Amino acid sequence: TPSCKIGPSILNADLSDLASECQRMMDSGADYLHLDVMDGQFVPNLTFGHPVVKCLRPKLPGVFFDMHMMVQNPEQWIDGMHDAGADQYTFHYEATNDPKKCIRKIREAGMKAGIGIKPDTAVDVLVPLVDLVDMVLIMTVEPGFGGQKFMQNMMPKVQFLRDHFKGVDIEVDGGVGPETIQHCAEAGANMIVSGSAVVKSDNPRETMQHMRNIVDN
Ligand code: DX5
Ligand code: ZN
Repeated sequence: TPSCKIGPSILNADLSDLASECQRMMDSGADYLHLDVMDGQFVPNLTFGHPVVKCLRPKLPGVFFDMHMMVQNPEQWIDGMHDAGADQYTFHYEATNDPKKCIRKIREAGMKAGIGIKPDTAVDVLVPLVDLVDMVLIMTVEPGFGGQKFMQNMMPKVQFLRDHFKGVDIEVDGGVGPETIQHCAEAGANMIVSGSAVVKSDNPRETMQHMRNIVDN
């Protein structure tokens, strides 16, 4: 069994053809899909919301949807995303004044809960929350745009979490590809988001396989 799961981010794919792009990623061996939701407030960019996810769901039955909610007041979209068929709801610590309540609402809605931090946020804030969630997300770029440079100086956060919380899923997101996945895996990340490196690749299957080989050897 592979030690890391790879979830392509379709942010830099052809969004006018979202379902086919997602299908192309699954056919190329993706383990799950990382879907980036942006509201123009928490980050200076816009993507899509739960109505789009609801249309996507029946076209990709059984595919794990990890919703990366880059939105202010993440509580407000929990029910909509659950109704749309999301599997995991990953929100940002910085976007709410009551992360525990948000986690509780996500769980009550029947989804897995993930919590993420931006590069400027200290990992310590997650300590009292890790046991309440399924996944923690360490951003390795400023959220908002695909195709940015990987911040290797975020790896101590991943290492810290892995040292203190053996069983939690740790996801990294931003600038991860064949050149950088090794750092993530060595630090202890086991859920790898990769956007441009995979969707812009001439051969996404080979790129993901190559990334797996790097990690497994
Ligand atoms: C950035 C998004 C990421 C991003 C990943 O705000 O959360 O998921 O699209 O894309 P790459 O791998 O190109 O940095
Ligand atoms: Zn993301």
